[in-house]
Amino acid sequence: MNILGIETSCDETAAAVVRDGREVLSSVVFTQIPLHSPYGGVVPEIASRAHVEKIGPVVGEAMERFRALGAGEIDEVAVTYGPGLSPALLVGLNAAKGLAKALGVPVVGMNHIEGHLHSPFIRDAGRDFSDLPDPVESCPALGLVVSGGNTVWVDMPEYGRYEVVGETLDDAAGEAFDKAAKMLGLGYPGGLKIDRISQAYAAERGRGDLIPFPKGRPREGVSALAGLPAGLCVSFSGLKTALLRYLQREGAALSAGERRNYGGYEVTPETARVAASYQEAIAQALADRTRAALARGRYRSFILGGGVSLNSRVREVLSSVCAEAGVRIVMAEAKFTGDNGAMIAALAYYRRNRGEDASLLDADPGLEIGGHR
Ligand code: KG4
Repeated sequence: MNILGIETSCDETAAAVVRDGREVLSSVVFTQIPLHSPYGGVVPEIASRAHVEKIGPVVGEAMERFRALGAGEIDEVAVTYGPGLSPALLVGLNAAKGLAKALGVPVVGMNHIEGHLHSPFIRDAGRDFSDLPDPVESCPALGLVVSGGNTVWVDMPEYGRYEVVGETLDDAAGEAFDKAAKMLGLGYPGGLKIDRISQAYAAERGRGDLIPFPKGRPREGVSALAGLPAGLCVSFSGLKTALLRYLQREGAALSAGERRNYGGYEVTPETARVAASYQEAIAQALADRTRAALARGRYRSFILGGGVSLNSRVREVLSSVCAEAGVRIVMAEAKFTGDNGAMIAALAYYRRNRGEDASLLDADPGLEIGGHR
């Protein structure tokens, strides 16, 4: 079964064709990052305009590559209808409805966060699939989606059942990375830059002299408002403030010293130390809450997805948390960590007959996963 997946929830216009929920036959992602970077974040109006311009060419190219394979016809169209930016979601949803009508196939609406939880289960066609885990057999699982818009831990007792057990009470981890990068003068988006700089710094000096920034522990009262235990939630606002205060106090030290190449970026050793310290705080915050969440149940796997899951230190610490807990970690391949259409198409295959008929759907920017908003 070939499913065309369309994803336009934020700043990527993406389309892909996936066979039987696993084999990616074609995948095209147009990223709008250069359009948003002058503004230091995603501007919804710019995003929706760019989606309108790019949706045709992106879907067209994904279809062209699929057709070139001679791998049959499209059986279904799947599209993200939430959560995300409302005007951005609408572009994908309308395109999907039109396409499905033209192709004479059903159109189903998918949840973006569920899509990320599917991203570790796909691979490009032609590769070896023998070691690719199966999403159904991976349950009971704990999922973590950690991206620019979400940081959420999801309990999946069985395939297709979701319950949010922890989340960020303010910024998503990706946002926390991006805001820090801005403060450090590294530009937007900053996650990957901080990652590369930190990796180079740790290779040179280790982690012994890192600054002990706060590890994202929220206050009880605040997490209670969200109906979730503090031990399973993160709050990155304190970490951000701690960085700001540190820069106000020690700013001179950061600009002192010769700039050197750290992971491809010219920064002073002190800037690299601060970046590595900040990253360590986020990675340890995620590790600590994941450890606590894993201790709640008997999980077979830990499923990790989202743009921040590409972070080398986050992968490293979460891998050791899972090794300690005796739980298999399944992570998305680098190219599927960010927003893409393939994860949406794959999800639709496994959610067959359970997806929402999207011909009647509207965009739902606050769409819940597992009944939790
Ligand atoms: O999943 P994603 O593409 O979509 C959105 O939520 O929009 O995630 C993008 C986020 C950005 O905040 C970016 O800075 C962050 O993921 N990111 C990283 C890394 N690569 C991307 N954060 C930390 N380390 C990375 N290597």
